[in-house]
Amino acid sequence: MRWDQDLFKRALDFAARAHGTQAVPGSGFPYVVHVTKVATEVVLACQDGGLEPNLALACALLHDTLEDAETTDAALEREFGASVALGVRALTKDPALPKAERMADCLKRIRHQPREVWAVKLADRITNLEPPPPAWSLDRRRAYLAEAGVILEALRGASPALEARLLTKAALYERHCQ
Ligand code: NI
Repeated sequence: MRWDQDLFKRALDFAARAHGTQAVPGSGFPYVVHVTKVATEVVLACQDGGLEPNLALACALLHDTLEDAETTDAALEREFGASVALGVRALTKDPALPKAERMADCLKRIRHQPREVWAVKLADRITNLEPPPPAWSLDRRRAYLAEAGVILEALRGASPALEARLLTKAALYERHCQ
């Protein structure tokens, strides 16, 4: 299936508007840099694994608009349809849960979504395994790396190419955990 560049641009614009002046932790870049990197990883999964690019790319660009911005499910559904809105909701941690339970709950909900949504979660962690902010303690870095393994195990089968990328990035991240 061909990918719809106009949809991509609309989703990028929507994300830019939603995230406003929010910055990427660590680099300080505008937040859309993060979601664009996630979308770039998802392109690989689409080329390689036969995923539907429009759902995957829209969810990649919009994946943090509910969690980190003021967007609503209704606005996402109106602009991008129900599949995208449900995908982004699944990718959003539930703030009502204790922190320690949020990732497991999120992964469980992602597993009820199409593989395109799984790929976005893998792509997000691949993107986030960049050098951690200097203020992060060793324990926090190690927990972040361990969590990457949990994500990989939970979402196996969505995209062998992204699984391999995540393993490579996790191996590189180990230098920050010693
Ligand atoms: Ni993200």
